[in-house]
Amino acid sequence: MKAIAVEPGAGSPELVELPVPEPAAGEALVRTLRVGVDGTDYEVIDGCHGGVPDGDDRLVLGHEAVGVVEDPNGTDLERGQYVVPTVRRPPSGTETNAYFERGEPDMAPEGEYVERGIVGAHGFMAEYFTSPADALVPVPDALAHVGFLVEPISITEKALEHAAATRSAFDWQPESALVLGNGSLGLLTAAMFETTLGYDRVYCLGRRDRPDPSIAVLDELGVTYVDSRETPVSEIPETYEPMDVVYEATGYAKHAFESIDALAPNGVAALLGVPGDWSFEVDGGRLHRELVLHNKALVGSVNSNREHFAAATDTLSQLPSWLFEEVVTGIYGLEEFERAFPAATTADSAADDTPIKTAVEFESI
Ligand code: NAP
Ligand code: BGC
Ligand code: ZN
Repeated sequence: MKAIAVEPGAGSPELVELPVPEPAAGEALVRTLRVGVDGTDYEVIDGCHGGVPDGDDRLVLGHEAVGVVEDPNGTDLERGQYVVPTVRRPPSGTETNAYFERGEPDMAPEGEYVERGIVGAHGFMAEYFTSPADALVPVPDALAHVGFLVEPISITEKALEHAAATRSAFDWQPESALVLGNGSLGLLTAAMFETTLGYDRVYCLGRRDRPDPSIAVLDELGVTYVDSRETPVSEIPETYEPMDVVYEATGYAKHAFESIDALAPNGVAALLGVPGDWSFEVDGGRLHRELVLHNKALVGSVNSNREHFAAATDTLSQLPSWLFEEVVTGIYGLEEFERAFPAATTADSAADDTPIKTAVEFESI
């Protein structure tokens, strides 16, 4: 079968030939339909996040997949059912551990998991993949074409669940939300705040000039675009308003600290970005004081579990369909898969508008 693999830090994604995997007991064989690309894939390709499986020098990419069950292999799944795989698995050579047994692999510390397509395990960018049945979340037929958005939405389901949990000890009625980053994760999250979560006032920060497809999506949603070149994050309260929730999806390390200033008293910021090392000065005393005297919280969040995938499937069914048409800017078959990675390959993507979300299609739906 064909798969898309990379030697992290040393090349761009390539088509490779691999044997069709055999499902072990408890696993199903899945035929891959579509696999999305996000900022993490570029970090993996660049070799600054994640890593290859033990004993391998390349990694099959892809962690945002939707597929169809080809062989249930004695599990409860049905042949022909559409499914989305979760990302984490127990480390190679182990069957399970306490985090997986509790259904909370997303809370496992490093060393207690691998992530398919990111660290230590091959991903889903292949014509077929196998997976334990309990790591395959069913999606309704009507959502199969956008099923690759379940994983990124699940990331936000988890982050906002944890953020809300930090505010659950008092009567918290959030009305304003600021998303940092107008990449695919930021845009999907801004759409959630505006539509399914029903926030009164939603803002999204970027650093691009109009006209830009991501800003057009924000305009259509009714989200206020904030240009970080004109309004730094720490000045947002004066220019706009203090925010009840900040959701950081830029990976720009200063934003973690500037979020503290952007928050309203009693607010919470969820940090999602995965930056590289970067030393800079902050006034630690002032930020510490700000957190304490205004009951503010910062929460880091990574990955998501099966329940977040189920919640994301529900969210996906409620988001307006025009959003998918505008956010998913390109779906490419294997013959032109390079176009799904415009920032990592030399493929001629000049004809494409600035891409927001791309995906590789292994089989049309
Ligand atoms: P992405 O497509 O690279 O989006 C990041 C966006 O932030 C880009 O649109 C970029 O703008 C913008 N940005 C960066 N620095 C900025 C600044 N100083 N001011 C304004 N805008 C800025 O990545 P993504 O897929 O949406 O993911 C976002 C981040 O979340 C990444 O760091 C990714 O690794 C992380 N992530 C974490 C998890 C988790 O589980 N914690 C899950 C998924 C993703 P330009 O495009 O104009 O440069
Ligand atoms: C993935 C998560 C993963 C995280 C860190 C994200 O892009 O969506 O599932 O845990 O990267 O590797
Ligand atoms: Zn991701």
